[in-house]
Amino acid sequence: MIMNLIILSRNPALYSTDALVQAAIARGHSVRVVDYLRCYMNITSSKPRIYLEGEELKADAIIPRIAVQHTAYGNAVVRQFEMMGVQTLNDSVAISRSRDKLRSLQLLAKKGVGLPVTGFAHSIDATNELISMCGGAPLVVKLLQGTQGMGVVLAETKKAAESVIEAFKEVRADILVQEYIAESKGADIRCIVLGKKVIAAMERQGMDGEFRSNLHRGGKAKKISITAEERKTAIKAAKIMGLNLAGVDLLRSARGPLVIEVNSSPGLEGIENATNKNCADAIIQFLENSIKEKKPKSIDGK
Ligand SMILES: Nc1ncnc2c1ncn2[C@@H]1O[C@H](COP(=O)(O)OP(=O)(O)O)[C@@H](O)[C@H]1O
Ligand SMILES: [Mg+2]
Repeated sequence: MIMNLIILSRNPALYSTDALVQAAIARGHSVRVVDYLRCYMNITSSKPRIYLEGEELKADAIIPRIAVQHTAYGNAVVRQFEMMGVQTLNDSVAISRSRDKLRSLQLLAKKGVGLPVTGFAHSIDATNELISMCGGAPLVVKLLQGTQGMGVVLAETKKAAESVIEAFKEVRADILVQEYIAESKGADIRCIVLGKKVIAAMERQGMDGEFRSNLHRGGKAKKISITAEERKTAIKAAKIMGLNLAGVDLLRSARGPLVIEVNSSPGLEGIENATNKNCADAIIQFLENSIKEKKPKSIDGK
C-alpha cells in the first residue's frame, strides 16, 4: 500500500527529517515535510481539518518531529491530525508526557523502572533534605527544561551542591537533584525503541574529564551490544510513556540499568552513523504495518 505521509518538521535539511523523507521515497510512498508552526486549524469545527497556506492537508500517517520549544503548538497540530483519524508515529499525549521530565520520572518509578534517586522541591528550605535524599555529594543538579547536556551540573561537594541549587533557584529555574552514578564513567547508552523492539543501540562517552556524554558536548558514539536486562528496561520505559518511537537513555550502574531520559524525537544521525542501521527505513516500515493493522472493517463486518 502506498502511503501519503507528512513529516511535521521545521527544517527539511535536518539529517533526521531528510533520512525519513529518503526512506519513505525509497519504499514508494508519497511524502512531504510540513512546518507545523505554519499550519492552522479551526479547532471548534465538528469536522476537524488542518490547513497550510489555504490548502487542506491530507495524510494517511504523520511523523511528528516537534522541537522542544514548540511542544504546545506542535502537539496541537498532532492532536488535530489524530482527531481526523490520521495515524501518528507518536501520539500527542505521549509526546507531552515525555516533555515533562518530572512526570516521566514519576511514571517510570511507579512501574518499577530503575532510576537514579531523584529529588525535587520548589523551595530552597528543602535543600539540605534534598541533598541527603540523593545520598549526599557528589550529585547532579539538572535544569528541568535543559537539553543536550546544557543545564546539567555535577556538584562534587555538599557546599557546591548548595550553591548551585541556590543559584538556580535565584533565577527561578526549576531543577531536580539526582544521585551521581559514578560507575557509568561519563558514558551512557542510547537505545532506539520502535514498537516492542530495540532497533539500534550506541554507547556515548564524554570527552576526557567530562561526565556528560551528549554528542553536542563532544561525546563520541560507538555501536554496542546491550544486555537482555538493558533491552527489557528500554522497551518497558517506552511502553510506559506510550511512545512507539523513543530514544531511551540508560546509565550502567552497580544496581543495573537506570533510565535517565526518554526522548520522543530521537535524532537519527548519531545512531545511524554509529551503528550502520537504517533506523529511518525501520520507522517507515513500522508505519506501513500499523496502518495495515488499523484498516477498518467494512460496515457489514467483512
Ligand atoms: N545521575 C547521573 N549520573 C551520572 N551521569 C549523569 C547523570 N545524569 C546525567 N548524566 C550524564 O549527563 C548527560 C546529560 O544528562 P541528561 O539528563 O540526559 O540531560 P539532557 O536532557 O540535557 O541530555 C547524560 O547523557 C549522562 O552522560
Ligand atoms: Mg540526554
